[in-house]
This record gives sequence, C-alpha cells and structure tokens, in this order.
Amino acid sequence: MNEPPPSAPPGNPVAGKLIALGLPLVIVAVTAVVGVWFSQRDRRHREGRVEGPDLYRKHCAECHGDMAQGATAPGLRPMTAEIEAFQAALQQGLHAQRLEKKLFDSDHERLLRYLKSLDAK
Ligand code: HEC
Repeated sequence: MNEPPPSAPPGNPVAGKLIALGLPLVIVAVTAVVGVWFSQRDRRHREGRVEGPDLYRKHCAECHGDMAQGATAPGLRPMTAEIEAFQAALQQGLHAQRLEKKLFDSDHERLLRYLKSLDAK
C-alpha cells in the first residue's frame, strides 16, 4: 500500500512570501529611521541645542564623576571658574586630546553654566 506523499507543511504559502518581502523592507526602514535620528542629533549639537547636563554626562562624567564630585579626575565643585579659564582647561593637554573635536565653544558655556548651577543657591 502506497502512502500518499507528505502534503505541503501546513500554513499559508503567502505568509512565507510576505516575510521574504517584508523583512528587507523592515531593515531598510529601521536603517533610515536610525540614520535620521543620528543626523538630527548632530545638527542639534552643532546648533548648540544640546543641554549642559547631557554634554556633561556624555563627555565629562566618566572622569569627573556623575555629579562632578570627582572620580578618577578631581571634583569640579563648587565651580567658580570664569569662562576663559574653564575653556583654557578644556583646550589643553589631556582634555584637548579627548575633547577637541567633540565640543564647540557654545558647549563650553553650557557646561560651565551647568556646573555652576549644581551649587547655586
Ligand atoms: C579622560 C578623563 C577626563 C575627561 C573625559 C574630562 N576630564 Fe577634566 N580633568 C581630568 C583630569 C585628570 C584633570 C586634572 C588634571 C588637569 O587639570 O589636567 C582634569 C581637570 C579639569 C579641570 C580643571 C580643574 C581644576 O581644578 O583645575 C576642569 C575645569 C575640567 N577638568 C573640566 C572638564 C569638563 C567640563 C569635561 C567634559 C567636557 C572634562 N573635564 C572631561 C580628566 C578628564
């Protein structure tokens, strides 16, 4: 007695095609969204619209501590420097190597304002 050949696996063959078409589309869409998000973020930064706390967390916290209390580098509080001295500190030596290309002059002002605000009464 001959068994009938095994039938096609259950399931809708159209579903397989949809997945085959849909997956690349999803990948393209996600790539586009992520790309736009990064370029917007760069633009906000260039235009000086990234705020002090974000700048601090991203560029400084690693060495100076989350709340600028000091970590591997000295604490920065209470911050009393004027902008000239603050900027000079960021443009020399270790900071220059680490930060030069990532920060704009307007970022220095925001960072200083943020650090001063931590101890403002
Ligand atoms: C790779 C570690 C590192 C990073 C990142 C870093 N710093 Fe520093 N910073 C140091 C060290 C170490 C010193 C102390 C030695 C010196 O003055 O060069 C210092 C000193 C300073 C001083 C001088 C403090 C004083 O009392 O003279 C300031 C101001 C400062 N940092 C601000 C910042 C700011 C703002 C950022 C982020 C934009 C930052 N630093 C990022 C390591 C770092």
